[in-house]
Amino acid sequence: MKVLVTGGAGFIGSHTTVELLEAGFDVVVVDDLSLGKYSAIEAVRKITGKEVPFVKLDLKDEKATIELMEEIKPDAVVHFAAYKSVHESISQPLEYYKNNMESGFNVLAGMKKTGCRILVFSSSATVYGDNPEIPFDESVPHAPTTAYGRTKSQFEFVMRDICTADENFAGIALRYFNPVGAHESGMIGEDSRGIPNSLFPYITQVAVGRREKLFVFGNDYDTVDGSGVRDFIHVTDLARGHVAALKWAEHNSGFEAFNLGQGKGESVLEVIAAFEKACGKPLPHEIVGRRSGDVPASICKAEKAEKVLGWKAEMDIDKICQDAWRWQKMNPNGLKDNE
Ligand code: UFG
Repeated sequence: MKVLVTGGAGFIGSHTTVELLEAGFDVVVVDDLSLGKYSAIEAVRKITGKEVPFVKLDLKDEKATIELMEEIKPDAVVHFAAYKSVHESISQPLEYYKNNMESGFNVLAGMKKTGCRILVFSSSATVYGDNPEIPFDESVPHAPTTAYGRTKSQFEFVMRDICTADENFAGIALRYFNPVGAHESGMIGEDSRGIPNSLFPYITQVAVGRREKLFVFGNDYDTVDGSGVRDFIHVTDLARGHVAALKWAEHNSGFEAFNLGQGKGESVLEVIAAFEKACGKPLPHEIVGRRSGDVPASICKAEKAEKVLGWKAEMDIDKICQDAWRWQKMNPNGLKDNE
């Protein structure tokens, strides 16, 4: 099966490309390199020993997107390419709607033109927003609270409508919880540009000496130790979820959404302790006030993906921390920018 991976030079896209290649899929990567780096593609080639083709393209260009798809004729698309900062989307809603929706529409137009019937979409736990029904199962109504979350939610509805109109179409939305960790080789990982917003890249940068200390946002939540709780999932487990989704879609059609998470949570303080164990030194940190917009806990029900796709997360927080630390140690300043 030939798979077009959009956004394949990014964190989750590059890890998924590795797993797809290792599972025997024929992969073409397209990325505009606005967030991802070409050196991630080079690393994917080294890890897998395979010459994955790469095309630099902005998917907001409808004509070029359709032309590319006519040339490649993929059997399936795994669509990652999107802006991804929740925080940034609050101050730049138009950019988020334009980029995330338009690129998705153009991919769908290209699929229609070429008769491609399988779309695996990079959705997010953020579609559940501040819904109080934790742990979330896939039937919990969407309640996104930011422009970023609404682009994910709305694109899921677009996919549903396409599946209603075309009974052969398979549209799968994978709702990621907190993807963290890195490939076991240490050659690809989460490579933030600028100051990281997320917990893991911040922790690894403190551990490697790029930042002085971690700020823990709140210790007065109603959780196990007062700090925020999240369902952290190893990015390689997450990547394998996409392989399972594609295999399922080969023989099925219709719209389905799946949570990809461990189905259990760890607190920020528990993560710090696990990371200190992995790197063998104390991690300087300071408790500060809550970060606005944060929820106390976000945990999924992971049963549907196991039952339907035969997939579940295998790697625990210790393995996640070991791999994240190996990646950061091997690449203290991230991957090189080599467009
Ligand atoms: N945190 C800190 N210090 C930091 C960064 C984070 O204490 O420097 C805490 C947060 O307060 C939160 C936890 O660590 O309790 C996790 O925060 P992240 O920023 O790593 O992740 P979020 O859960 O806020 O966001 C993640 C993804 C989003 C996605 C969202 C869906 O990063 O892309 O989950 O729920 F939309």
